[in-house]
Amino acid sequence: MKINCTSINLKNAGEEVTLYGWVNKKRDLGGLIFIDLRDKSGIIQLVVDPNSSIYSISSSLKSEYVIKVHGTVRKRQSVNDTLKTGEIEVLLDSLEILNESEDLPFDLNNVTALEDTRLKYRYLDLRRSRMQKNIITKHKIMTSVREYLNENDFTEIETPILCKSTPEGARDYLVPSRVNRGSFYALPQSPQIFKQLLMVSGFEKYYQIARCFRDEDLRADRQPEFTQIDMEMSFVDEEDVINITEGLLYKVFKDVKGIEIDLPIDRMSYDEAIDRYGSDKPDLRFSMEIEDITEIFKNTDFKVFKDVIENDGIINAIVVKNLADKFTRKTIDKLTEYVKIYGSKGLAFLKYDNSFTGSIAKFVDDKTSEKLISSLSISDNDIIFIVCGDKKTVKTSLGALRCKIAKDLDLIKDEYKFVWITDFPMFEYSEEEGRYIACHHPFTMPKDVDKLDDKENAKAIAYDIVLNGYELGGGSLRIHSSKMQKDVLKSLGFTEEEADEQFGFLINALKFGTPPHGGLAIGLERLTMLISGTDNIRDVIAFPKTASASDLMMEAPNKATKKQLDELYISLKM
Ligand code: AMO
Repeated sequence: MKINCTSINLKNAGEEVTLYGWVNKKRDLGGLIFIDLRDKSGIIQLVVDPNSSIYSISSSLKSEYVIKVHGTVRKRQSVNDTLKTGEIEVLLDSLEILNESEDLPFDLNNVTALEDTRLKYRYLDLRRSRMQKNIITKHKIMTSVREYLNENDFTEIETPILCKSTPEGARDYLVPSRVNRGSFYALPQSPQIFKQLLMVSGFEKYYQIARCFRDEDLRADRQPEFTQIDMEMSFVDEEDVINITEGLLYKVFKDVKGIEIDLPIDRMSYDEAIDRYGSDKPDLRFSMEIEDITEIFKNTDFKVFKDVIENDGIINAIVVKNLADKFTRKTIDKLTEYVKIYGSKGLAFLKYDNSFTGSIAKFVDDKTSEKLISSLSISDNDIIFIVCGDKKTVKTSLGALRCKIAKDLDLIKDEYKFVWITDFPMFEYSEEEGRYIACHHPFTMPKDVDKLDDKENAKAIAYDIVLNGYELGGGSLRIHSSKMQKDVLKSLGFTEEEADEQFGFLINALKFGTPPHGGLAIGLERLTMLISGTDNIRDVIAFPKTASASDLMMEAPNKATKKQLDELYISLKM
């Protein structure tokens, strides 16, 4: 059996070893040949003496050739501190080429290639130690998760991939059925309904490391196909789900990263998160909280603010402390463009240095100045950024701006800041659909079933776990009464027939002694991204899709043959 290259150290000096791996680099020093041999575990230096019988075959080696070598371990003359095996080398007496390699499309040791090239040759990109480390980190997380949930009496249960729509707010991927002509399966957006049905069946504690599929706009932390650490429990309240999740995160960070995270994790209501940070996934590694200054400007002559106040809008601000000198006219113009993406019409600013200067300084009289200084604790070299308008636009714009400024000015501390966001709204208005939809999903327990008609204010027993500005996971307590489930679907605009047609099996199941239950799902890739320190989800997936949902290596999706389409009774419109 092969041994790892890096399992050898100075204690093995004088011993004979057989090693396998790839030629990472070969250096021919006009006499001695040095080979960096690479395997999954790392790199070890091999040496070939000019008088050795394998000298000529060694000179023919090229990068990425696969070799088997035999030799004697010895102490190295000049130690290489960057390598685990930096104190030793192996003097070879035999070398066999197991396979050759053509020149690679990019240098594994110095990748400047475009990501598209790396994705086309993903199997080569995955040879790089950084990529291997990320993929192995994910494996370690899964191992730790399984250990924890098994210890806590959870049962791992698989659920189908070919199923019916499970609404999580995205579009479904559909699979045509050959046998049932004209009918389609939907790939699961999550195992949500199945895990609830497993509670009806009496399993009490379920988990699955589950593949999920969502046809939605892709971002740096989103893939069309991803994995959830999916859990469901019976006879629990919100506190129980939170405790189990905290225990799980504690173990994962300890096992994989060697860090003991602080428990219990802080909590914040959804409303508070929006008010203070303009986001339901606030990054708490830096402050710069959003402040409401509407009151300070209530008698202003500045027409823009005046109009906003008259139309029940708000004026909010963030303060960047002691860095006003970093903001030139040009940077501020760029930030103004940036907030426009979030619907804001403009971005006002005030710099302070004994007095206020800036775009709206002439509207800041002595009294206003005093109020701003005291309520925002302003001192010299501070800059205030102000956005006005409707609440949603103002909060989202400033929420995004605070993150952008923190990133641009390197104000983010290197730490893990978790927070639970609780008391989510039951509904949210979908501009696309022109109606209210479930904020979490339609099976979420309302806080107060009598308030379902108040769409703007109805709250749900739903919670998200947030880490460093990422939504790591989300869950809720579920409706376990058939009648309440029908009422909620009705308040979401489903007719009785539609509710029956889509969710009849669930509504029916809820009639047969369903225990109270709830759960949560954590995005495995997001957890791996945060633990690995990357902000690109593709870095933690062996074979990911591009932003346009394609696999550049396999060239998927691709055209179906006429025969395949005929068998499915499908004709294409294009
Ligand atoms: P939710 O939709 O909040 O909840 O998803 C849970 C977590 O899954 C991750 N996630 C994603 N990761 C990568 N790419 C995506 N496209 C993507 N979409 C979601 C996120 C998210 O927090 N069934 C419920 C859970 C429950 O109620 O128990 C659900 O799916 O990290």
